[in-house]
Amino acid sequence: NTSQTIYDLIGEAKIRLLSKYFYQEVARNEDLKKLYPENLEPAEDHLFLFLLQVFGGPETYSDQRGHPPLRMRHAKWKIDADMRDHWMNAMLVALDQLHVDPKVSKAMMNYFVKAANHMINHA
Ligand code: HEM
Repeated sequence: NTSQTIYDLIGEAKIRLLSKYFYQEVARNEDLKKLYPENLEPAEDHLFLFLLQVFGGPETYSDQRGHPPLRMRHAKWKIDADMRDHWMNAMLVALDQLHVDPKVSKAMMNYFVKAANHMINHA
């Protein structure tokens, strides 16, 4: 069924786990970590709700956090290609740990590559 979303295919629990694994990697990466607040839990929750929505699930993220574009929400951090690489590597490690169907992880990775490139705001 081509109308099935990633959310339909992997479910909420896996999207929660992906966010958790991602922030475990952030905590291990000094360059990335310095951008984030000490307590990573709210950020983890926001990423979870955002991805739930992006991948076809409930729109709780927009209801709670409003509608500014994601790129605008990142304007206060200097995000260059190196920082993009740190973010992408953390997400790659997280995605590997998730053990989903390779077709699904490929679709997710395609989305993350585009989104992360789009977040670059500094040469
Ligand atoms: C928030 C960094 C890319 C989704 C944040 C925060 C930082 C950050 C420092 C603030 C966390 C907090 O204080 O709560 C970066 C860097 C990126 C990047 C360095 C490099 C490319 C992305 C991408 C996505 C994403 C590709 C989604 C696919 C989010 C979301 C939030 C967030 C949903 C929470 C925004 C809110 O509702 O307040 N990011 N990010 N980020 N990021 Fe990123």
